Amino acid sequence: MSLSAKDKAIVKGLWAKISPKAEDIGNEALSRMLLVYPQTKTYFSHWSDLTPGSAPVRKHGKKVIGGLGLAVDKIEDLFGGLLTLSELHAFQLRVDPSNFKILSHNILVVLSKLFPDDFTPEAHLSMDKFLAIVSLALSDKYR
Ligand code: HEM
Repeated sequence: MSLSAKDKAIVKGLWAKISPKAEDIGNEALSRMLLVYPQTKTYFSHWSDLTPGSAPVRKHGKKVIGGLGLAVDKIEDLFGGLLTLSELHAFQLRVDPSNFKILSHNILVVLSKLFPDDFTPEAHLSMDKFLAIVSLALSDKYR
């Protein structure tokens, strides 16, 4: 799977709207992930509060969207650009790759809710492809 020029243009266009709201979007995506897929909580058991909208969830939500912003910047070389983050998730955090699909799903849900006019079927497809490749890049070091 690879991103077409159209996919990249759509992702960048949507990103211009996402980045100013990084903390809100990250918070809501992470809050939903932790509530709807409670098995994901195991990775964050060291946080003081895992309830939706708590301070640690908000703070981390912003970081995750920041990580995706880096991916948008490195869209021409996602595997190289996300190497450090991949090593972190694989070797240090040991996040099971199946969880990337879960987080990606929650990000799509939040984007569709927040940007109903922009989240056309075409935008859905391009964002889904982008998140799938980011997830592959972040899982690249598990071998
Ligand atoms: C940390 C990005 C998916 C678990 C981080 C950090 C970023 C990030 C930027 C902070 C790195 C640092 O502090 O240097 C992403 C992106 C993801 C993703 C872009 C996919 C779109 C996941 C998933 C899980 C996960 C699916 C587990 C369910 C963690 C944990 C930390 C972390 C446990 C450390 C948290 C802490 O400092 O307390 N991630 N991540 N990540 N990520 Fe991810």
